[in-house]
Amino acid sequence: MKTRTFTIIKPDAVAGGYTGKILDMILADGFTIRAMKMTFMNRNDAARFYAVHRGKPFFEALSTYMTSGAIVVALLEGEDAVDSLRRLVGATDPRNADEGTIRRMFGTDLTRNAIHASDCAENAEKEWKQFFDEKEIVEVDYSPCSFE
Ligand code: CMP
Repeated sequence: MKTRTFTIIKPDAVAGGYTGKILDMILADGFTIRAMKMTFMNRNDAARFYAVHRGKPFFEALSTYMTSGAIVVALLEGEDAVDSLRRLVGATDPRNADEGTIRRMFGTDLTRNAIHASDCAENAEKEWKQFFDEKEIVEVDYSPCSFE
């Protein structure tokens, strides 16, 4: 069944010039982009987005890092979207991620791990609603055959 998930290409990956390569991997995996933009987080945005991690030892470093540069946020649709994207993204620590995953290819360590992928459908919806208004979500089918 087609479902939706949310992703952030993080500051290290955007600054490293990997945005196109990461999007290529996501599209090659069968996802459709329903909304996307380049933006940034301020400290309040990061505190809201990572509220579940507030108080944890890595929260300050995570927040500093996520506000350090441009990010690309996207709402994705695909078969079993949350689990499929998490498989493609790989383990949280790039050093433990499987060969061929996005974090293994483009991440460095637990903080600079290149990409975020929502952990469940409920959180995905909360997360994309932090970045996108309803009118920014493309609901029409734009696959090549829809132009024939
Ligand atoms: P992300 O998928 O964005 O969700 C929370 C982030 O916290 C995670 O990726 C990591 O970048 C970051 N993080 C830093 N240290 C840890 C840790 N020890 N355990 C889990 N996440 C961590």
